[in-house]
Amino acid sequence: MGSIMEASLFTRKLETEIGGGVQRLKSQGHTPSLTVIVVGNSPSTMVYFKNMAHKGVELGFYVELRKVDDSVGSAEVLQLIHRLNDSNDVDGILVGLPLPKEYDVESILHAISPDKDVDAFHPFNMGQLMIGKPRFIPATARSIIALLENYGVRIQGKNAVVVGRSTIVGKPVACLLLQRDATVTICHSKTVDLINYTREADILVVSMGRPKAITAEYVKEGAAVIDVGINHIEGKIVGDVDFDGVRPKASLITPVPGGVGVLTTLMLFDNVLKAARLNVERL
Ligand SMILES: NC(=O)c1ccc[n+]([C@@H]2O[C@H](COP(=O)([O-])OP(=O)(O)OC[C@H]3O[C@@H](n4cnc5c(N)ncnc54)[C@H](OP(=O)(O)O)[C@@H]3O)[C@@H](O)[C@H]2O)c1
Repeated sequence: MGSIMEASLFTRKLETEIGGGVQRLKSQGHTPSLTVIVVGNSPSTMVYFKNMAHKGVELGFYVELRKVDDSVGSAEVLQLIHRLNDSNDVDGILVGLPLPKEYDVESILHAISPDKDVDAFHPFNMGQLMIGKPRFIPATARSIIALLENYGVRIQGKNAVVVGRSTIVGKPVACLLLQRDATVTICHSKTVDLINYTREADILVVSMGRPKAITAEYVKEGAAVIDVGINHIEGKIVGDVDFDGVRPKASLITPVPGGVGVLTTLMLFDNVLKAARLNVERL
């Protein structure tokens, strides 16, 4: 029976480190700050970002939620981003996704200054990650690597299979695994016979957005299985992995909720702290 990788076991240490970094900057007269632009009126999106803001404030950050009516359009959001880019008081900028479909997502995300791009969506930051010199690493990808490392999973030389090729999870985590000398395969919806790949995985990272799609037959005996999925089914949150079916076969497995997602917010604020340090150096 596989052990459960509980993120909560090391969140306290991470919170202490981040909180300490925040206090050091405050003692130099700078309060690290994040501005989140939330377009539209989706109550669930607002709840998500309010919870995130709450955690940031708890850690000592100044967090501002800038709610924008979805009728304003891309041009106004771009103007807001330019103002935030120019403000010395703003260290990190984040745009809530998904944006309403009439918005030009790419130009909005790419307008954020690479120095304040704490989600690491800017081509400059993606390029830095690709060449192995990351400045900001997307928070979920960082969380996945942190879980593997904290549970002593050897990455070097292992077969790592990532199911999902999103810019926010699949591609960056594949990149980080490759940099740690895993042999990496990225699968997606057009992959033929997915099972032939996943069954070879010593490390299986699943970020598909398909509830319980990965069942025991997809998993190699003894694999470390990281489930990134967050799916809302009948009032419950479930992952992309059939936890109960897969656990007996895996050596390690993340729960949903309680796994990757727990760390993602902390990793994001660690990126904000880094952005704040860079900002202070520039001032
Ligand atoms: N825990 C966290 O911190 C966190 C953070 C971000 C996202 N998430 C969750 O993770 C899940 C995935 O989100 P995401 O943004 O990474 O991905 P996404 O943009 O939703 O895309 C899903 C990916 O899965 C692939 N896929 C879909 N069906 C597949 C199938 N049957 N076989 C193989 N591949 C398939 C897609 O392939 P194509 O590219 O070919 O379409 C795509 O690359 C969601 O549930 C999301 O809520 C969690």
